[in-house]
Amino acid sequence: KRIVALISGRGSNLRAILEADLPVTIVAVISNKPDAAGLQLAEQYGIPTQTVNHRDYPDRESFDGALADIIDAYQPDLIVLAGFMRILTDGFVIRYQGRMINIHPSLLPAFPGLDTHGQALREGVKIHGCTVHFVTPTLDHGPIIVQAAVQVLPDDTSDTLSARVLEQEHKIYPQAIQWFAEGRLHINNHGIVNLSAPK
Ligand code: GRF
Repeated sequence: KRIVALISGRGSNLRAILEADLPVTIVAVISNKPDAAGLQLAEQYGIPTQTVNHRDYPDRESFDGALADIIDAYQPDLIVLAGFMRILTDGFVIRYQGRMINIHPSLLPAFPGLDTHGQALREGVKIHGCTVHFVTPTLDHGPIIVQAAVQVLPDDTSDTLSARVLEQEHKIYPQAIQWFAEGRLHINNHGIVNLSAPK
């Protein structure tokens, strides 16, 4: 399977995916930020990189249009959002529905949006975690593929909690991509993901 990864920052999830040695080819890494550290990482792996700087576009539609043109040139089977921090237009999301996935640092549907670890600490939840899901037009709310939980400790700060969640992200994102590549993820009529047995 051909994968295009979209990033905005350090790229630790991208690294985990690359190191997992999955039965996929990452055909391009695209960033909306020219200085994203993940771009250098991709280059070290010999993966083509592109920047589509959102600041060069007057609105979301034109940015998403430019992004889609670049993505489509690579003919990916799957688009992986790996710390991609731009909200995508409905049109863009619908174009790739069922073949675009995201990782979010909370146990969805709890805590969509930003500062999920701060949200979790302020709510006093005792269990927190991360979710890989298919992307739908509603932000951080699509068919859930896999989740991992971590315990919230009494002296946790946003930093300590996020570090433990990140370790789990690095496990479940490669796992989800592996399942996709094996053709084992099926979204049913109720929008629930069923994992079929290995072939
Ligand atoms: C991760 O916490 C991811 O869940 C969130 O953004 C962060 C990206 O980190 N969407 P990295 O760039 O993969 O290191």
